[in-house]
Amino acid sequence: MAGSKLSAAEVEALRERATTAAQNSYSPYSRFRVGAAILLDNGDVVAGTNVENASYRLTSCAEQAAIAAAVTQFGPGIRIRAVVVANLNGAACMPCGACRQTIWEFADAEVPVYYPTANGEMVETTVGELLPAGFRLCSE
Ligand code: THU
Repeated sequence: MAGSKLSAAEVEALRERATTAAQNSYSPYSRFRVGAAILLDNGDVVAGTNVENASYRLTSCAEQAAIAAAVTQFGPGIRIRAVVVANLNGAACMPCGACRQTIWEFADAEVPVYYPTANGEMVETTVGELLPAGFRLCSE
């Protein structure tokens, strides 16, 4: 159900998927290897990693890569059930502002987001806490 927390085992399984994705990170500039695993409402999990570019601003974050992969695989109707972020640098790794808005596009405010602190503990928060008053297009 969207908005409910995951069990510790579910978080761990997603953290493993995110960590595996991070091993494929293309990050020659920052050397910050990030992975994200997204649990979809349909129960499938899609992972992504960050892909940098010599023109730095063209970098794609792990969360954005995971969401692009999920849409590619399952179509435009995807809804996110949970997001877990990991990195191979032993660093804190909360989704950046752009990623928060990207997650918001496909998630309710109550959807749980898990990210590591510098000591490796997982913080549990929600999309709405990370992005209060996220933008939605209201054309009328
Ligand atoms: N990065 C992510 O993949 N996700 C985030 O939410 C924050 C930052 C990546 C982008 C860049 O490749 C590296 O981390 C350093 O900023």
